[in-house]
Amino acid sequence: MKIGVARETAAGERRVALSPEAVERLIQGGHEVAVQAGAGGGARWTDDDYRSAGATVVTGFAELAQASEAVVGVQRPPDEELEALRGKVLIAFLQPLSDPAGIEALEQAGVIAFALEAVPRISRAQAMDALSSQSTVGGYKAVLLAAERLPRFFPMLITAAGTVPPARVLVLGAGVAGLQAIATARRLGAVVSAFDTRPVVKEQVQSLGATFLELELAGEETAGGYAVELTEEQHRREQELVARHVGESDVVITTALVPGRAAPRLVTAAMVASMRPGSVIVDLAAEAGGNCELTEPGEEVERDGVTILGLTNLPSTMPVHASQLLSRNVSALVAHLAEGSGLLIDLDDEITAGACVTPGAVSAPASTVREVAASTGP
Ligand code: NAI
Repeated sequence: MKIGVARETAAGERRVALSPEAVERLIQGGHEVAVQAGAGGGARWTDDDYRSAGATVVTGFAELAQASEAVVGVQRPPDEELEALRGKVLIAFLQPLSDPAGIEALEQAGVIAFALEAVPRISRAQAMDALSSQSTVGGYKAVLLAAERLPRFFPMLITAAGTVPPARVLVLGAGVAGLQAIATARRLGAVVSAFDTRPVVKEQVQSLGATFLELELAGEETAGGYAVELTEEQHRREQELVARHVGESDVVITTALVPGRAAPRLVTAAMVASMRPGSVIVDLAAEAGGNCELTEPGEEVERDGVTILGLTNLPSTMPVHASQLLSRNVSALVAHLAEGSGLLIDLDDEITAGACVTPGAVSAPASTVREVAASTGP
């Protein structure tokens, strides 16, 4: 297959969809790779790194699309570039649940779009799970940011100058990001407690050395393992539980998300006011509106002496490892769509059908798609 690696255009995006190492492996696997000049710059990979891996380097997006059957990126390309992708495959984070207009634009442009968020979370597709790989980065970085902002130590210290008690960290939402945050905070020596509406995570939380806050809630879970939105009564009871613990915490890391919904409001302004001045909240749900009432998405603010970080796209702040992990996910999806050295879009396949957000663009039989794509050369 001819694969094109796009240069990201979104503000502040430093990741790249395929690292030079991943490119080399794809080429060894019989594929051809073109890279848009500067694509790896944010992660400190040069065009020469990609050339050494066996890729060709092209300048513009249109040129890249022309040379490719499948273009891979981190975020969606700008609308003005979509026409160049007509009949081609696009793989990227495309926000299918929160950006229906964007998906419609892709469909209108005839782009065969695969959203990394939409890859079904089944064991067969684990290697393609980019949500998990990037959440791992986000959860880790959230704790480092909190530790840096907190005017206290994380670990307990016994020194000649006195004893320092450990920081108390509360993690709300113990999915992939939350579990990584718990593990990282524990490594730094904090005392950690956590809550999630899915009771199945209790053992995972405890196995990381954290306390699971008990609330007889039995929140539901979808077949894919995601949380279901709580009822009003359940939400009220959860807020009572959270209120009891927020005031005693030095750091609160919130990661609670329900796919396709605004993030649940777990930390109110009154709870923030109950925290000790200098405490820190890192709201990883900021992009979906935030779990804290006072979060300003994309910003770091101070309210009642509490620092609230609503920074978005934390994975991009660790572009090397975030890109390396993402490269594995993207390569696995590319391999899944590849047939020999060509491309096969089989919408009867669970992974392909789940991830494809513009099935209407796959109008031609698979063999035709393959032939059309193969006939486009540089
Ligand atoms: P997510 O990013 O959608 O949500 C984060 C966490 O917030 C979840 O654990 C969710 O239960 C929790 N949450 C939602 N509403 C909440 C509330 N009101 N209060 C407290 N917590 C709340 O989820 P993520 O991290 O992407 O994954 C969720 C689950 O998906 C995993 O824990 C796992 O069970 C499943 N999964 C399955 C995989 C597979 O390959 N089978 C791979 C990765 C995840």
